[in-house]
Amino acid sequence: MENKSVLKLARVQDMDIQNKAVLVRVDYNVPLKEGVIKDDSRIRGTEKTIKYLLEKNCKVVLIAHLGRPKGKVDPKYTIEPVTGRVSEIMGTKVHFGKDCVGPEAEKAVAAAKNGEIVLLENLRYHPEEEKNDDAFAAQLAKHGEVFVQEAFGALHRAHASTSAITKYLPGCIGFLVQKELEFLDKAMQNPERPFLAIIGGSKVSDKIQVLYSLLEKTDSLIIGGAMAYTFLAAQSTNIGNSLFEEDRIEEARKIILKAHEKNVELLLPADHRVVSDIEAVSTVENTNSMAIPDGKIGIDIGIRTEALFADKIKAAKTIFWNGPVGIFETKEYSHGTVSIAAAVAEATAKGAVSIIGGGDTVSALKTAKVEKTAVSHCSTGGGASLEFIEGKQLPGLVALSK
Ligand code: 3PG
Repeated sequence: MENKSVLKLARVQDMDIQNKAVLVRVDYNVPLKEGVIKDDSRIRGTEKTIKYLLEKNCKVVLIAHLGRPKGKVDPKYTIEPVTGRVSEIMGTKVHFGKDCVGPEAEKAVAAAKNGEIVLLENLRYHPEEEKNDDAFAAQLAKHGEVFVQEAFGALHRAHASTSAITKYLPGCIGFLVQKELEFLDKAMQNPERPFLAIIGGSKVSDKIQVLYSLLEKTDSLIIGGAMAYTFLAAQSTNIGNSLFEEDRIEEARKIILKAHEKNVELLLPADHRVVSDIEAVSTVENTNSMAIPDGKIGIDIGIRTEALFADKIKAAKTIFWNGPVGIFETKEYSHGTVSIAAAVAEATAKGAVSIIGGGDTVSALKTAKVEKTAVSHCSTGGGASLEFIEGKQLPGLVALSK
């Protein structure tokens, strides 16, 4: 796989950084509600690198994006609320720069001493960021003497702060990016078997490439969530009024055939939890079979499927899980996803390596009251981890390898 080149990238521990100003690209695209951080794992994920730099008496300048403000200043997307949490976790003063380039940024960077941190305002307030603009990257580069890429979740974007920046500063990857790549690379190159992948979520269209790639590597593949209804429709199983993608039925058929060809066990739900009206949460019923009766909507895997999937999961030695298997945000529809989380935790406790990717899946762990430490690795990047597994070259790594 192309991604093997990651092993040749410079690492932060290889760099001469003592007393230097270090520009660190982080992925602090955290869920915020009225200025309150709902999940700080992306900040915690960068703790090892930032503390390492602080111990080396560096001035740490953090650049990051938040949401998709489309190249315009929009207070809704300010990254300022993150400052306090960064300071608490890293245990030092964090200065906030009201812009990521120009006088405001320079003022904030100049005010910080070595051993302190500066967090600069949302990179995506500038359209040049997503255009991978050289002049903008050169402006960013002025804030440091060395560049550390620690934004695993943004490595699949060819933006100024992930790609062009590497033309202007000596670059390396931080500890979080190293850990993410090690887990994903090992799972894809040399997994302990049986290797089982669980892919959920609503759209086949989002996951076609990853499904093909997993068919090359895994022994078994569980498909859940609304995606499963497209696969069932492809086998001419009745799916009632369930959500599905008509234009992906042919693709689902090809994937089923490929699984046969590759001798990969493809597991679809054997029964379902269904409702007549998605809002009527108290009317959930379990189907008797794989077929969903006319007028019913599938919202979760069924009780028998829970047990079947849990047995498979507990027998696996490597597990990759991306995407919930039901509408888990609604408590009444979360049983299947909760049972998957519990089975993955149990398998991990017995020695399996488990990798969880994607914000939704990580939230599902929370819903299931399964600690993140109960799985081997919780990836901080949903899109990036899927693209890595698809075998795509991640632009943020390609740029650093040049
Ligand atoms: C993410 O949340 O997956 C990353 O921060 C990337 O965000 P993006 O999809 O807006 O580029």
